[in-house]
Amino acid sequence: MAETLRRLKEDHANISRLLQVLEHQLSLFAEDGEVDYELMAGVLEYMRRYPDLEHHPREDRVMERLQLRDPETAEKVGDLEGLHRDLKEATERFTVALDQVLAEQEVSREAVTALGHDFIARQRAHMRMENETFFPAAQRSLTEADWKEIDAAMEQSSDPLFGPRVAEECAALHAHLLQWDREDRELN
Ligand SMILES: [Fe+2]
Ligand SMILES: [Fe+2]
Repeated sequence: MAETLRRLKEDHANISRLLQVLEHQLSLFAEDGEVDYELMAGVLEYMRRYPDLEHHPREDRVMERLQLRDPETAEKVGDLEGLHRDLKEATERFTVALDQVLAEQEVSREAVTALGHDFIARQRAHMRMENETFFPAAQRSLTEADWKEIDAAMEQSSDPLFGPRVAEECAALHAHLLQWDREDRELN
């Protein structure tokens, strides 16, 4: 499998874990439980820094080739760049709402929770579509030369959470994920 495609799939697995973390925090928030805001903010920081800036543009590049090699399936995937813009906007909406909570402004708990769930649902639906339609089509239709070019253009990953260097803003989230993995291993 081409390195780009392998990386894109790995990104999806990573993002899915983060959405689970967020979903759990959101359920605590909805019940007025003890929320780890740093964790929530970390997830959003990550989404703004990595998927929006690197993962999506990389997919857009694959899409350009798919439009040449298999226009019919590309059509089914739809306007990928537009979908990525929609996701970015959902991230921004939820970030603004969370910032208001952190600044102790008066915001409705229901409204913030709804924005959070909307964000999670959109991300999941988008990744599902890509896993089921976009990635298999790309794997089927792009030539070896296409992948070589795309792989070569892919820069060294600057993933601030799952990459070689963890960014300061993501440190708390990183520690949480490690702890989670440890607990998971102990249970199994
Ligand atoms: Fe995407
Ligand atoms: Fe994706």
